[in-house]
Amino acid sequence: MGILEVKNLIVSIQSLYKKVNILRNISFSIGKNEVVSLVGESGSGKTFTALSIMKLLPQAAKIETGEILIDGENIIEKDEKKMVKIRGEKVSMIFQEPSSHLNPVFTIGNQMVECVKGNLTKGEKKEKVIEILKEVELPEYIFYQYPHQLSGGMQQRVMIGMAIINKPSLLIADEPTTALDVSTSFRIINLLKKLISTHKISVIFITHDISLAVNFSDKIYVMYAGEIVEKSPSKKLINSPLHPYSEKLIACLPEKYKKREKIKTIEGTVPDFSSLPSGCAFHPRCPYKKEICEKFLPEEIKIGESYVRCFRYGKITKNN
Ligand SMILES: Nc1ncnc2c1ncn2[C@@H]1O[C@H](COP(=O)(O)OP(=O)(O)OP(=O)(O)O)[C@@H](O)[C@H]1O
Ligand code: SF4
Ligand SMILES: [Mg+2]
Repeated sequence: MGILEVKNLIVSIQSLYKKVNILRNISFSIGKNEVVSLVGESGSGKTFTALSIMKLLPQAAKIETGEILIDGENIIEKDEKKMVKIRGEKVSMIFQEPSSHLNPVFTIGNQMVECVKGNLTKGEKKEKVIEILKEVELPEYIFYQYPHQLSGGMQQRVMIGMAIINKPSLLIADEPTTALDVSTSFRIINLLKKLISTHKISVIFITHDISLAVNFSDKIYVMYAGEIVEKSPSKKLINSPLHPYSEKLIACLPEKYKKREKIKTIEGTVPDFSSLPSGCAFHPRCPYKKEICEKFLPEEIKIGESYVRCFRYGKITKNN
């Protein structure tokens, strides 16, 4: 059994006029010590997936059906008191903007000590924090500083420290480096790699950067309009993608360009969840579209080590 199993998850959001499904029947799993990247265009539902696993969805959102099993326990049934224990001890999350997740009026030490779980004295908790500061390669004096005295990279190191301080089985990193400059990003990525391998943590890494995802993770799951359309080993995905959307994402990578070639984008836009195209949601942008694609949803099928949802390979799963 994996660390995480998400089964047939449907999550909706109630807007002013109607309820729409943002996550549309997604299923996936993360194995022990496995690092999986979740990629897809902006608005495809990556953060929603992460927030569902943390049970930190916005108020207007609702888990309609499905299961989220962490270490075999279905967290959908857990109340907030139980979730407070699960968050940190079993699963924790690093966000894109560290500054908006640190309280400006408390010292770093104060906030980190608050995160330490278990029956420890104040002194023991402080010791644990000092230890973790070393692990995230920050000097001890940071303990006494306020968030505004730290650079973005240092703040993200603090967030990483807070996320791993209770040794969770699963870490979710939602675009942890997009707010940072390139060299700071590389240092943070290398730090994450080191910590993941030292502590043997399973990881969901959310990113727009497929090249980084290939370098960072064992597998890549591709999201489109609230569905996972392909799950493949990283090297397989970049070398021979199965889904037309994955193929387009990879064709747009800068390293695939010839000299002076125009920058490519995927024609069309991510559909609005309140008026999704019928059938396969990618059909208006797909060069391989057939008549069936506009009417029905493709089933997920296994090809080698990959899973894909597309009529080029599979059959009908349901009438749209
Ligand atoms: N609080 C909210 N209220 C209404 N709709 C929302 C809310 N948060 C997100 N959405 C919608 O849900 C969809 C999925 O959002 P999500 O944040 O998961 O996308 P994402 O893949 O993480 O995008 P990005 O790469 O830009 O972070 C988007 O279309 C967005 O418009
Ligand atoms: S199901 Fe049809 S429209 Fe959708 S990605 Fe496959 S070929 Fe393209
Ligand atoms: Mg997001």
